[in-house]
Amino acid sequence: MAPPPEEPAQPPEHCERNHDRREDHKSGRPIAGSGNQIHGGILLRSVGSRHACRVSDVDWILEQLWAPVVAITAAHEGRANGLISSTAVTASLLPEAPRLAVQLARASLTRELALASGALVVHFLPADDRGLELFRALGFYSGRDGSKLDGVPTQPGTLGTPVLREAVAYAEGRVALTLDADDVTVVLADVVAGARLRDEPFLTIEHVRERLPTKWVEEWELRRERELQDARRFRR
Ligand SMILES: Cc1cc2nc3c(=O)[nH]c(=O)nc-3n(C[C@H](O)[C@H](O)[C@H](O)COP(=O)(O)O)c2cc1C
Repeated sequence: MAPPPEEPAQPPEHCERNHDRREDHKSGRPIAGSGNQIHGGILLRSVGSRHACRVSDVDWILEQLWAPVVAITAAHEGRANGLISSTAVTASLLPEAPRLAVQLARASLTRELALASGALVVHFLPADDRGLELFRALGFYSGRDGSKLDGVPTQPGTLGTPVLREAVAYAEGRVALTLDADDVTVVLADVVAGARLRDEPFLTIEHVRERLPTKWVEEWELRRERELQDARRFRR
């Protein structure tokens, strides 16, 4: 029997739609053009005309794997800083020896301070306007370009790392193990202290998506482009 005529594969409708969007499908986080092209470039070469659907699906599943939005602080020799992270997760089965893991970008000042001091603090931010302001202040700029914690109320935790006083909850970690993985460092930290400071909802990426002003989304996108440039320098 003759093979069926070659017809270009038609991606399902949802794949087309997803591919056209310039933000992720769960969080609303803007995907800078260059970021999409990295995935797109790889898959485009390997699967030809179906790449639009596959790229979109890969983006989608990786975004479902985001951890909750947290703020992470670190300090060393009088210099303090913080960032926003979506990679902090619990990292031990043992309730008597709790650990968390987080991925910190190689170019990040927070990473530098956490590794130098051997400590960091992970916080949930409040799900209100102040939480959004902190999300912007810590997530859209690098502390290398200007101090981010000026004017942010903090108090030293048990390891000396600043704890954000406006946080809903926090966990202090002492760095136990690190793995440099090209563009990120995976940090495992023993949780040595923590507290729930208020009985309020904490900021999620869904809150951010619903309420982030357009102007701030543009700032985020600019920062994201810079992060990608930095990351590519470290990827072998
Ligand atoms: C939602 C969101 C998630 C982020 N997740 C991470 C992360 O897991 N690790 C990281 O190093 N940077 C992450 N970033 C980027 C940092 O927050 C941002 O680049 C920050 O400016 C780095 O700051 P620093 O150089 O002052 O440490 C995230 C940003 C946002 C907005």
